[in-house]
Parts: sequence; structure tokens; C-alpha cells
Amino acid sequence: MIPIPRFLVGLSAVVTALALVPLALVLRARTTTSPLPRVHVVPDMDNQPKFRAQAGNPMFADGRAMRPPVAGAVARGALSADDALARGRVAGAWIESFPVPVTEQLMRRGQERYDIFCAPCHGLSGHGDGIVARRADRLQEGTWTPPSSLHTELVRSRPEGHLFNTIANGVRNMPAYGAQVPVADRWAIVAYVRALQRSQNAKLTDVPAELRAQVR
Ligand code: HEC
Repeated sequence: MIPIPRFLVGLSAVVTALALVPLALVLRARTTTSPLPRVHVVPDMDNQPKFRAQAGNPMFADGRAMRPPVAGAVARGALSADDALARGRVAGAWIESFPVPVTEQLMRRGQERYDIFCAPCHGLSGHGDGIVARRADRLQEGTWTPPSSLHTELVRSRPEGHLFNTIANGVRNMPAYGAQVPVADRWAIVAYVRALQRSQNAKLTDVPAELRAQVR
């Protein structure tokens, strides 16, 4: 057997020990935390100079990086210059008609939206007996303002613009629904409320002539 030279034994021991160093570094990196960014071999465009939300930026007079919209800016599709359509008012007076064509489609939409947004309080037929109102009645907490019946002389006589405004901004103890119900849907609901009112206050003349005998 050829004796292995002593220096080779020593050298291989050193090489073996050095070979463990990368492994030890990897293991350490995986089990400790570091405040330094990780080694990023191919940076792509991952790191760019930018301002984060709510950060400061001394370039602007108010020191904010997030810029408020320019005064008077209107989001696309959110222009509400038409007073009658967007506020139910012309020259300060409630409009007494619809600023949109009243179609069957509008009615159906109004019914759907009414059943979602109004019926819980006002009831499906508008008598103020929705499930929330009935529950509040049962609890007898004494702090509840009952939802109005929509079939009183007062509410029947409200101009369309007033009903629209009630939905948009609320009225007395009723909260505003403008945030949930967009303009077009508010008019649809007003149209449906008118239909509900007529249904609960119908006259014989509302019945087609050939069916009147039957109703009598
Ligand atoms: C959270 C319950 C609640 C919901 C939901 C609700 N209302 Fe009301 N509403 C009320 C209450 C309560 C009143 C009476 C407020 C008062 O007298 O202080 C009222 C009053 C009214 C009136 C009478 C206003 C007047 O001219 O005197 C109308 C009309 C009306 N609501 C329509 C609606 C319509 C349409 C919706 C659906 C978009 C709706 N409400 C959703 C609770 C509600």
C-alpha cells in the first residue's frame, strides 16, 4: 500500500471543513432574521424609489406624498350638474315629475331595490311594518321611531323630488341611503313607491271598465 503523504491528509481536512462553510451560512440565514434586505441577484424592477401611502414628501407645501384631487375635480361619470336629476330640485323647489322616462324596466328595478333597501323598515307594501319595525315593536325599548307608512295623505302628497331627497339624504330619524343607492336607482324606487301608493289607494276608475262589475 502506498502511504498517503501527510500533507494530503491535512489538506483534505481543511478542504472538508471549508466546504461546510456555505452550508452553515445557508442554515444560519434560514433560521435567523436580519434587518438587511435579502441578497437580490437579479433586481428586475423590484426596487424603485417611490413614496408609500401616508408617507411625507417635502416637495409639496403640505408635506404629503398622497395628493388630494385638484379642487373641483369630478370623477368620470359622477358629474351631477343636472339639479332635477341629481337633487330632485329645480330653482329650489321639489320637482313634481320624473326626470327620467318611467318604463316597465324602471319599475321592476325600483321594486327590486325597494325590497332590498326600504322594505326591511317600511314593509313590502309600504305600511311601515317591515321586519325591523316589527322586531323593534316587540323589544319595546322606547327609543324606536317607527318608519312612516307610505300611504298617509302626507307622504302621498310629497313631490317626486322630495321622495328622491328622502332616499338620498334621509329625513328626520330615517338615515340617508344616498351612499348605497345611486341616482338612477333612487328614481326607480320613487317610481315604485308611487306604484305602491296607487295600489293601496286605488279607485274603481283604476280598474279597466270591463272588470268593474266584478270588483263591485
Ligand atoms: C332603517 C329603517 C328605514 C329604512 C331602511 C328606510 N326608512 Fe324610510 N323612514 C324610516 C323612518 C324611521 C321614518 C320616519 C322618520 C321620522 O319620522 O323621524 C321614515 C320615513 C320615510 C318617509 C316619509 C318622509 C316624509 O316625507 O315624512 C319616506 C317617503 C320614506 N321613509 C321612504 C323610504 C324609502 C324609499 C326607503 C328605501 C330607500 C326607506 N325609506 C328606507 C326608516 C327607514
